[in-house]
Parts: sequence; structure tokens; C-alpha cells
Amino acid sequence: MNMDVLNGLFQPKSVAVVGASATLGKIGHTVLLNLQKSQYKGGIFPINPKSDEILGFKCYGNVLDVQDPIDAAIITVPAKFVSQIIDECGEKGVKGLLVITSGFSEVGLVDLEQELVAKAHSYGMRLLGPNIVGVLSNSDDFNGSFAPFLPFKGSASLVSQSGALLIGIDAQTYTRGIGFDKLISIGNMSDVNFADTIEWLDQDKNTFCISLYVEGLKDGRRVIEVGRKTSKPIVALKSGVSAHGAAAAASHTGSLAGTSKIYKSAFAQAGIIQAEDLDNLFDRTLVLTLQPPMKGENVLIITNGGGVGVLATDSAEKFGIPLKFAPPDLQEELKKYMPSFGSAINPVDLTGMAGEGWYHDTVKIGFQHKWVDGLVILYCETAMTDPLGIAKSIKKAVDSTGIKDKPIVVSFVGGERSDKAMRWLVENGIPAYGGPDVALNAIGALKEYAKIRMDTLDAPAKFDDVDRDEALKVINFARNVGRDSLTELESKQVFKAYGLPVTYAKIATSEDEAVSFAEEIGFPLVMKIVSLDILHKSDAGGVKVDVNSVEDVRKFYNEILKNAKAYKEDAEIIGVVIQEMAPWGTEVILGSVNDSTFGPTLMFGLGGIFVEVLKDVTFRVAPFSKKQAKEMLNEIQGAPILAGIRGEKPRDREALADTICRYANMIYDLHDEISESDANPVLVYDEGDGLKVADARILLTKK
Ligand code: COA
Repeated sequence: MNMDVLNGLFQPKSVAVVGASATLGKIGHTVLLNLQKSQYKGGIFPINPKSDEILGFKCYGNVLDVQDPIDAAIITVPAKFVSQIIDECGEKGVKGLLVITSGFSEVGLVDLEQELVAKAHSYGMRLLGPNIVGVLSNSDDFNGSFAPFLPFKGSASLVSQSGALLIGIDAQTYTRGIGFDKLISIGNMSDVNFADTIEWLDQDKNTFCISLYVEGLKDGRRVIEVGRKTSKPIVALKSGVSAHGAAAAASHTGSLAGTSKIYKSAFAQAGIIQAEDLDNLFDRTLVLTLQPPMKGENVLIITNGGGVGVLATDSAEKFGIPLKFAPPDLQEELKKYMPSFGSAINPVDLTGMAGEGWYHDTVKIGFQHKWVDGLVILYCETAMTDPLGIAKSIKKAVDSTGIKDKPIVVSFVGGERSDKAMRWLVENGIPAYGGPDVALNAIGALKEYAKIRMDTLDAPAKFDDVDRDEALKVINFARNVGRDSLTELESKQVFKAYGLPVTYAKIATSEDEAVSFAEEIGFPLVMKIVSLDILHKSDAGGVKVDVNSVEDVRKFYNEILKNAKAYKEDAEIIGVVIQEMAPWGTEVILGSVNDSTFGPTLMFGLGGIFVEVLKDVTFRVAPFSKKQAKEMLNEIQGAPILAGIRGEKPRDREALADTICRYANMIYDLHDEISESDANPVLVYDEGDGLKVADARILLTKK
């Protein structure tokens, strides 16, 4: 990535406003006025052939008339003129184009938009937008947008796909007292996208947390790659989480792969924390900007009220950091600074009598103790205490420890005095929230951040016993005879080439061949019809299980063919599969989709009603580490079944994790070939006994 060009776009030293207007209310006027009001120190060059001067700035007819260099051009002319302006900017040597103008891909004019990008690239320029509000940067005194003012000062930066929302957030930064350095509107993302912007913000010295509002990524895989490498916390609010394309999906996995579940996994793989809603985006941005990740699991809560303590305890569990009793030595130490009727267990209840001194001393003791990984301080406003005084005593205690690698968050429940005290805390680097649940959610984000950052360090599992050529041979054979799906047997051949443990099977095309295969494989057996015209084999009377003799093989061979013909007269029958009958095991499902945003993505869940009714499944973008595969096993609600319930032995989770990784490698390696696939059911046996893929299905990509 050419950082110099992106610097020109996000941090220009000089800027032209093409379409600058003297008419109040026009966007071209507002942008120029905003540059002036924000006291931008770089060169400002209004471009408008009809004016000589606007807002006291000398106006030029064309960018080419400007003698000085221009880093960025903010384009505010109607859509039909944009192409010509890009040529002029290219000739002038402009680095970045901020195209505010609407009326491109968002109204269906995709080709026109792509032409603009191609043109910009041909001059070595990058294009932000079109259809954007602009870029705002406090540290550069730069309001290159039509948002009303620079945001409340702070150290987070927001990248938003929605322009209007960015403007709304801009104003809310003041009412919430949560500060940002940059607000970047990326609009249609025709060229500069989330990944580029994250990469640029990662090296921006004024940004400590990257906050995203995402409607849909165009570059999912690159966002994962860039996110994994980013040194700063990233938090994202994703809208539009309803399932899309599910109805049209042909495979089982396709129908379960809702956007939100895939995004959730992909964000985690990218090291991106998710926010639930706009409030949560602000709250999490604040904590991730001001505090370090929480590396352990032990949260100590100190409170002056039992009620908020219980609320916080409930929330701690909800946000994945259930409270534990404080160790005895810590309790003993804390008891010295509270009344005898208080409690030092955790939450530490200082009671309503607590004043600045008790808060100071217990915060200091708690923060210093090695058992404590994170501190949550709660306070309910009382008549005997001054909230600001309490806030200052907390800050003083924290500072006196000199500790910088442990987080602290605060919640004050009260009125205006508490609000003021919380503002003071935030200004002094301690995130403070009105509700105890919000404070616990915030510290939960720091725990989540520590965990997902660790996870991103794991390299994907690798296998050197894979036979890719064999898999391609099977796939090419099917393609050559005009098919875009594989038979069960072919699918299993592909699976086998990637080391998946499939049941042994052969296709018989005559009764005698069926008998000879049966004798080779051994009893008991399963027999199944093979026809691409019959998808639901059982419904067609095309499946016989527990076949135990040669006589039955002969009888069922003919019966299966007869049933198939009766079910679908014109069905093209390939033969009958004679297959090893896998013993009963816990049924799980593995499957894949080629997601339009993230590419090959794997699904895992328990089979049967768990998948049919409860949709108890989880996803990962392929490939990934074995540790991730093991986490998938724990993520589903049915996880205890695999762990072994009611005295049952645990299932072979090690073998299952291995198979999941192999499957992921297969769909990643063959993503040009496999569009969707299922292994369903996969029968998982007791620990040490492995598993078997009993049925398989692969749909090929259209070529
Ligand atoms: N070079 C320089 N200036 C030019 C020009 C050119 N080649 N062609 C036209 N202009 C001038 C116009 O003369 C006008 O100046 P004037 O007021 O002195 O006459 C100015 O550029 C703007 O053109 P105008 O035709 O008045 O357009 P407008 O201001 O009504 O609308 C946009 C222009 C870009 C704002 C409008 O097309 C648009 O896209 N609006 C939506 C923006 C938006 O919402 N973005 C996304 C937010 S989420």
C-alpha cells in the first residue's frame, strides 16, 4: 500500500474544493466554510470557473491553474462532471480524491463508478467514496466534510460506511463526552475500503482505537488479514445482520449460513471486537481507547451499594467474566478499610458510609494485588459524599500504584454531580459509565480483546499428506461429463484425498458386482441408490441399512432400483453404492459455503434436531488453527454432549478437531472448485476411537 498517497487523502497538506460555491447551503460552500472554521493550516484552493473569490479565498477555474501542489481534491460537483475533474486532478498530480458526490453504484451505476476508479488509478491516485461526507481530523484541524464541526477531541478514530450516521455520531461525541481524533466516511468503498483505512489508522500516531460502522464488507479476507496484524484495538458495529441468500442455498450448510453468524466469527478471526448497538459502540470504543486489555479472568468489584453490586455480579456472568471470591489475604487486607458490617468477599461492599478515604485505600489495595486482573468501581451518589471527590480519590489511588497494564472501569449511579465526576474521570483516562451493567460490558470487551488478540497469533493448521491432484481428478471427471455436483462416492473420494475418514464404499452397476463388493467390504453393509436426479435417497426407498447376507444384497439391489424408478421414472441411475456400515456414534455435521464476502467458510454443529431445529452451529473462515477448531467444539450449545454427559465417555474431540481443520484446508485449497459441501452425518466415537464421515455432498462452482 502506498502510504504517501493515503497520507495525501487522510492528512492532506493542501486541499482543493472542486465545486466550491459562494451560495450558502450548498455542499461546496459548506466544505470550504468547514475548512476555514476548523482553522486548517494547509493550502486551501476553491475551484469554480464562475468565481474569483469565495469566503476570502482566491478561487481558481481549474485545479491546473493552481501553482502550488495539491494533496487532496474534495469533489462537490454533480456526478456528470466528476470524470473530467478526475482527469484534471490526475494531470495536476493530486494524490487523493474525496468524492462527496452521490449518484453512482448506490443507484445502480456500478460501471460508471468503476471507470472513475480505473481513471484515478491510471494517475496513481486513490479515491475515497463516492457518496461520502468527507474526512475530519482533530489533530490536523481539518474538517474536509459537510459535517457541522470537528468531533469532541479524543484518541479513537471512526470509519463509517454511512455518511448520515457519521454526522449524527459527530454531534453525539459532545453529548456523550467520548472523543475521537478522526471521522472517516468511506461511502461506496469503490477504491479505498475498510482494510486500507484500518491499515492507515494503525500507523496514525493520534489513533489509539479504531471504531467501525459496517454495513457490508467488500474485502472480507483482507480485513481479516489486516485486522490480525493491527496493533490497535478495533471495535465494529455491524448492521444488516439478517440472513441473506439462505433461501436460495442448495446445501444444508448454505441454508444455515446467515450473514450475522459468519460476520461474528470472521470479526473474531480478524481480532475485531463487536458492538451490539450504537451505545455499545461508544462504550466499547471508550474503554478500548483508554484502558489496556484484561489478560486474566479475575475481576474485583468495589462498591458502596449492595444493589449495584448484585447487578454488576449478574452482568459479570453475562459478559463472560463470572466473579470469584477474593483470596483470603486480599479479603483480610481490605477488611482493615471498611466497617465490620461490610463485606470483602467480592463484590467488596464498603457500605453506604464509604467516603473518599475508604475508596482510595481499597482501590489501591485491590489494584495492586496480583490476583486482581481488572477492577470495577461502583458508586451510588450519597448525601455525605461528593462524587467528584470520590472520582479524584479513585484516580489518585490508581496513579499511586504506577500500574499501567491492568484495566479499571467505573460506574457512578446518580445525578448531575455524578455525571460531572464521570466526565472528569474520562478526561483523566478512566472510563466511567452510568450503569453497572455497562461498566461490566466494557471490562468484558477488554477481556475479549486480550483473548482474540492471542488467538490471532495462531497459524493455520497444515497437512502434508494431502493429495490435491486426486481430488482434482474426481472433480474434473464430473465437470467433463457436464455435471456441477459430485455423487456421494465422488464427494467422499475428494474428502479422502484431504485425509477425512470416510466410510469405504464402491458403486455396483450389476447384481453380481454388488455381491462381489459386499464380500470384499464385509457385513453389515449399507446400500444406497446413486443418482444425481434423486437427492432425498431415503424418501425414494433408495437406502437399506444393516444388510447382513449375500441373499439380501441381491434382493435389495433389485428392490432399490425398482423403488428409484417408481419414485422418478426418468431418473438417470448411476448404480448402487455398497458401503461399509459405520457403527453408531454421536452425529455431527460439517459443511462449507463459499461466502461472497469471506470466501470458503466452514460450519460445524451437532447433527439431527440440533441442526434441524435449534440451528446450533458455528462458523469459521478457512483456514484456521487446531486451537480454533477446538474452540468451535466448545462454542455450540450442545458442547456438553461431546464432553460426555451422564457418565458417558467423552467423544473423540481431538480427532474431530483434526477433521475440522482438514475440511477447512480442503475448502480453502479448492475454493475455485467447491461452492458448497456437507459431511452429514459424521459419526463421532468415544475418545481414541476416531470418527467416520457417513454421507458426503459437494456442489461445484459454476465455470
Ligand atoms: N469545476 C468546478 N466547479 C464546477 C464545475 C467544474 N467542472 N462544474 C460545476 N461546478 C460548480 C457549479 O457551478 C456550482 O457552483 P455555483 O454554486 O457557483 O454555481 C458547484 O460546482 C456545485 O454544482 P451544482 O450544480 O450547484 O450542484 P449542487 O451543489 O446542487 O450539488 C453535489 C452537487 C455534489 C452536492 C450533489 O450532486 C450531490 O451528489 N449531493 C449528494 C451528496 C451526498 O449526500 N453525499 C453523501 C453523503 S452520505
